[in-house]
Amino acid sequence: MADQEVKRFSHGSRVPGWDDAVDLTKDPQEIPDPATTPVPADLRAEIEHHMAKYPDRRSAAIPALAAAQHVHGWCSPEAVRQVAAVMRLTPAYLVSVASFYDMLDTQPVGHRRVYVCTNISCSLRGGRRLLAQLEDAVGDDPDVQVRGFECLGACDIAPMVSVDGIYVGPVETGEVDELVRQVREGADPLPAKQLIKRPSADPEANTREWEQPPTDFARVAGDLERLAPGGDPLPPEPSSFGPPMGHPEAPAVDADPTAPVEQAPSSPEEGPKQSEETP
Ligand code: FES
Repeated sequence: MADQEVKRFSHGSRVPGWDDAVDLTKDPQEIPDPATTPVPADLRAEIEHHMAKYPDRRSAAIPALAAAQHVHGWCSPEAVRQVAAVMRLTPAYLVSVASFYDMLDTQPVGHRRVYVCTNISCSLRGGRRLLAQLEDAVGDDPDVQVRGFECLGACDIAPMVSVDGIYVGPVETGEVDELVRQVREGADPLPAKQLIKRPSADPEANTREWEQPPTDFARVAGDLERLAPGGDPLPPEPSSFGPPMGHPEAPAVDADPTAPVEQAPSSPEEGPKQSEETP
């Protein structure tokens, strides 16, 4: 069979993404000398605080890099050297971590970070349109970074946006200009729609005084009136997702809804499982 040409990317690899080839002419990296690497005192204290939480200091690499990014705006070579000097690691190790994680920037970007979720729940409720509107409204402002993101874990407020880690949602089309203005001015983004201010079932959560989000008072008042002794029973909430659980027409629920517990396969080399060691 004739030799087939192996297709390669411009950087020589068959694998996309490996754009920065190893420079073999360079000496191996060394840990920066703490004596000649100045580190802001607050940043040093925060990195050491994170290191103290783990038996292996490398476990603190992500929060340490995030702290440096907060100070420098991105994981610049200087920021990485400072983290490396405090953590006693090579900059190369830290760059390998920073380049893997989406929220750590290895290129200079706008220091206001606006992440728009475009995953399934948010997309179904207009997340992609919201992203396009925010990108248009921000334009080429170098101080603001607008990016689409996978699920940010706040699907119940879809479509949602993270503004420097503050979750807001559901964000309406008519709120885009206000949100962009707040981002540019460094103001609190959409205060009435922040996830942290929503009531929680946890009595210890949200104990601070917040401005309460708007409530549908008309419906609440109507419900209370009808719940009064002698009032008509409330009709079920309209739902487009079928009958509620427990309803005669609802599909049967598995008697054991717990997920199976994953267990590592045992082998003679691994020795007895913990349960077998205990008499
Ligand atoms: S799908 Fe948007 S937060 Fe989960």
